[in-house]
Amino acid sequence: MLTMAPQRTTPTGWTLRAVASAHVVAIVGQPVFAGVYLTGDFDSLRWHAIGADVVTSIGYLQLIVAIVAWIRLRQVWPFLATTAVVAAETVQYFAGLDGALWLHIPLGVMTVVALVVLFIAVWSRPLPRREVRNA
Ligand code: HEM
Repeated sequence: MLTMAPQRTTPTGWTLRAVASAHVVAIVGQPVFAGVYLTGDFDSLRWHAIGADVVTSIGYLQLIVAIVAWIRLRQVWPFLATTAVVAAETVQYFAGLDGALWLHIPLGVMTVVALVVLFIAVWSRPLPRREVRNA
């Protein structure tokens, strides 16, 4: 009888999940700090600025892990999705420093949503090494 081997998530897949999880936790704090700041607690802007450094650092770390996943798992989608999120976060960072809230607030909301979708994507399917099929 022919049985298919179960598709197991590899250590690279687990690393990607761990980094994406830390990333989503960090970014969810950003609108919270911003909201507290906008209600008059000016100290929260400092936390928002620290959060910005944490979020973008984890983003670049996730980019490295996604490149490793692309090479080891032969799956490019985590790299493409992470690149889009990291690009948005980089624009977001400079829009925040510039005080360009017309861009910073809508892009911030979209970036949080995109990262939550990416988080769901890495957790909702196994991340095995894709086999190369010879014709
Ligand atoms: C929904 C999400 C977000 C909202 C609503 C938000 C809102 C704000 C607000 C109201 C400010 C103050 C701007 C000013 O006073 O001129 C600000 C500053 C800033 N934000 Fe955000 N933000 C969000 C997400 C992010 C993210 C994800 C990052 C980083 C990737 C970020 C990075 C910054 C930076 C670097 C500043 C400047 C801080 C400073 O002046 O020291 N923000 N943001």
